[in-house]
Amino acid sequence: MSETKLEDIVSLAKRRGFMYQGSEIYGGLAGTWDYGPLGVQLKRNIIDAWWKFFVESREDVYGIDAAILMNQKVWQASGHVEGFNDPLVEDVKTKKRYRADHLLEDNGVEAVAAMSIEQMGQALKDHNIVSPDGNPLSDIRQFNMMFKTHVGASEDDTSVSYLRPETAQGMFVNFKNVVDSFSPDMPFALAQVGKAFRNEISPRDFIFRVRELEQMELEVFVHPDVWKEQFETWLSLQKDFYLYLGLPADKLHHVEVPAEDRAHYSKHSIDTEFDFAIGQKELGGCAYRTNHDLTAHAAASGKNLNYIPKDGSDPFIPHVIEPTFGIDRLVLAVIDSAYSVDQSNGEDRVYLRLPEHVAPVKMAISPLLKNKPELVTKAREVFTAAKKMYGSVLWDDNGNIGKRYRRQDEIGTPQCVVIDFQTLEDDTVTVRDRDTTDQIRVPIADLLTPKNSN
Ligand code: GAP
Repeated sequence: MSETKLEDIVSLAKRRGFMYQGSEIYGGLAGTWDYGPLGVQLKRNIIDAWWKFFVESREDVYGIDAAILMNQKVWQASGHVEGFNDPLVEDVKTKKRYRADHLLEDNGVEAVAAMSIEQMGQALKDHNIVSPDGNPLSDIRQFNMMFKTHVGASEDDTSVSYLRPETAQGMFVNFKNVVDSFSPDMPFALAQVGKAFRNEISPRDFIFRVRELEQMELEVFVHPDVWKEQFETWLSLQKDFYLYLGLPADKLHHVEVPAEDRAHYSKHSIDTEFDFAIGQKELGGCAYRTNHDLTAHAAASGKNLNYIPKDGSDPFIPHVIEPTFGIDRLVLAVIDSAYSVDQSNGEDRVYLRLPEHVAPVKMAISPLLKNKPELVTKAREVFTAAKKMYGSVLWDDNGNIGKRYRRQDEIGTPQCVVIDFQTLEDDTVTVRDRDTTDQIRVPIADLLTPKNSN
């Protein structure tokens, strides 16, 4: 369990412009959050790191960006129309809806993940569980989490489409296209980053469970004989990426998902759980999807989705290993891991110990006094040059230096640079380190020499 409280993270995130409630001025829209200027930069840094790590730096991974809206036959063939459900119960008086498994867990019932929907219904009765408002509950039923919509002007069955609940299917339907264009050797992977939508019955815990989410997924196409070793390879790479983002190894746990709780397409799944402020919960997953998806799409579309090996051996439908990453949960885990409190001048100091390559602001630049034009002019010069070099550099002349440092600490800025009267004499500046609060004098030329970035 993290020592940080979720309410502290939410408060900092809102106050400092990482995240705002979706549609806030209208009272919000449950399960939606808007990323503010710092949140979007942090999220972008994570996505860019992921793309570099898994796509740009490899020769066996091909990026794609498929449309969110897809032919409804995709979701019929994939099994999502039939099987992408959560167990639902309703408060018979207030009509509020709840996830049955969450109610059971909240009431201390164990091993809920392994229960069938009938067993959950029975367990609710056996434990006399009522709604959080104290009212009786309806019978349990399955609720499909896909958002349904119509494409075009007519609203009949043929125009039905869905907002995708996972990015994965965009890759399966493009498998043949990429094979035809690039003739990749096996194993190879497709990778995609994008929005997904799930009509969660009870979105909760800030950005942990939302209705509009973002995923980064890889579909690794392999020969069935090597699925086990490929699974281990990609699970290990997935962990390497988490560590690269600064998540502590002792907060990451591999947990095998029991058969009853696995997604309908998976034959073996290992989730990575993380010690969030809300407890040990799923951060991401790695699934062996067998050839479920390609076989289903080949049958439903009538297209041949066999892979033809270059060595003349028999064509086959590839099996798939899928490492999946939920970006919103990653953002939360990164902030949670970085959230730190220490004592400075007898007061609590809150700071985000973010790795430099993830921090939304790389450097803040200030004139010591904002009413001294000579300092402001010099500081502006340094700011312009630093911004050209590091991109995300902030100008900060608001309040006294102490207040500036505290503000920058809270958003995780690794370095604060101050231009003072000595700068005008010898072209050196003070650079203050976020984590140690130590200050050193550095020549401007050194500050503007590129470091070895990650
Ligand atoms: N393509 C496989 C797939 O979608 P999943 O376990 O359903 O698998 C993958 O979702 C990841 O997406 C999860 O591990 C989690 O990080 C994230 N995720 C799923 N539902 C979410 C939600 N409602 N809110 C935030 N993140 C979610």
